[in-house]
Amino acid sequence: MKDLNSFLEELEAAFPDEIKRTDTLVAPHKYEASAVMELFERDERHPLVLFNNLVNLKQENTAFKLLFNAFSNIEKMAVALGVEQPVRKLIMEKYYQGSMNPKPVVRVNHTGAPVKELVWREQEVELGVLPIPRINEMDGGPYLTPIVVTRDGDSGRYNISWNRAMVIDRNHLGLWMSPRHLWSTFSKYEQRGEALPIALVLGHHPAFFMAGAGLTKISQDEYEVAGGVLGEGLRVVESEAFGGELLVPADAEIILEGLILPERRSVEGPFGEFTGYSGPQRISWLVEIKAVTARKGGAIISVFGAHQENLYAHMPIQADIFHDLKNIMPAVKDISWVDSGGPLNMVISMDKKTEGEPVRAAMAAMSLSNFIKHVIVVDDDIDPGNLKQVMWAWSTRVQADKDINIIKRTQGQVLDPSLSEEIAGSAMIINATVPVGQPYAMKAQPPESVINSIGKEIFDQFKKY
Ligand SMILES: Cc1cc2nc3c(=O)[nH]c(=O)nc-3n(C[C@H](O)[C@H](O)[C@H](O)COP(=O)(O)O)c2cc1C
Repeated sequence: MKDLNSFLEELEAAFPDEIKRTDTLVAPHKYEASAVMELFERDERHPLVLFNNLVNLKQENTAFKLLFNAFSNIEKMAVALGVEQPVRKLIMEKYYQGSMNPKPVVRVNHTGAPVKELVWREQEVELGVLPIPRINEMDGGPYLTPIVVTRDGDSGRYNISWNRAMVIDRNHLGLWMSPRHLWSTFSKYEQRGEALPIALVLGHHPAFFMAGAGLTKISQDEYEVAGGVLGEGLRVVESEAFGGELLVPADAEIILEGLILPERRSVEGPFGEFTGYSGPQRISWLVEIKAVTARKGGAIISVFGAHQENLYAHMPIQADIFHDLKNIMPAVKDISWVDSGGPLNMVISMDKKTEGEPVRAAMAAMSLSNFIKHVIVVDDDIDPGNLKQVMWAWSTRVQADKDINIIKRTQGQVLDPSLSEEIAGSAMIINATVPVGQPYAMKAQPPESVINSIGKEIFDQFKKY
């Protein structure tokens, strides 16, 4: 059975340097946990940090825990998905295969559900008992980065998506949702004057969260997709507030159950976003919490907003884009986006056969996602995740007057601070591939045959492990 604890044990065994625990008393709503994370980030280390000794929003000591950086690099994702080597391409492939092989949920009763150890209903609900962090200085309040579960009452389909949620008072949150599946389900309910039942999952196995990020099709039941990504059927149990109408993950750490209210909105934000900047304050949707259930000492998984983890958490979206791009342009061999540090840049490597393919591949990537503003296309001798190699190709395979295309007034990403208008901006394609069918300078290196014989024999004597 996969849960957060099984993940932490596996991470510790596979990459002991990637997990740190601290028993020092910390007040996360006073930025004290994220300040620690900031120092790790400045040191170019990205371990998962589990804060064991915390005060809650009411300044009382609490047994609940908080962790950051469960998604901060490919080592964590390899463990989450059960991939043996932390290699970007293997991780994208494993995620995609999992999401395409859904597994039915497994229903359990209350006694078999660890998340029912503690239950608070209606008037007992008090978000202040939780150690909810303020992450970055401009954030509009303490923030959660949960997976939001909904069930479309008409189709019976479950949707899970990753959304930021700001604490407003003891039983209200401001929830931001861009116009995707969660938004469209709620809009349908709102038009009928109905509230939408939801559950906010604050902690679970990271593979469950990854399934919430992916760009699944509206026809897919996302609980079943989560089972595919987890590698086992998701265990679910009836919710307190909605019974069998909304099943919730039995092995979660903490769950908030509530309603997105129709015809109600709330000020929400600013919030440190994946771009590395503080995203603007918005008029967002209002959630009323009806019940809270938790494990004793359950942990909140918080994304370290505006930092490396925030970008890497989008790896499932990268996997979906990679797959769609390969379908359009089979010559595409690999892509790198979130793991190259540039939130709006993508590198595509391809086995180009004819001129013009790199520009088509870049345009396809841009059409698949408005996250992609600049695309560098390289040949498949370049690892797109290795920025030194990418810069070398850019330096030695590009003539700016013919290899750079500027596209004007295309739809941009609303969180891009460089946009001077609300949404339309410019995009750029850099074709850093060598010309087809023309002589080109030879890459200088010793002959491959000698590298693979005597070179390798002597080199292997000095293996690292
Ligand atoms: C860490 C993280 C935070 C996110 N926060 C939000 C958010 O606050 N609002 C939003 O609309 N999408 C957010 N997203 C993107 C959605 O979770 C993602 O697009 C998802 O596929 C949407 O699911 P849906 O199409 O089923 O609604 C976030 C993604 C990640 C990885």
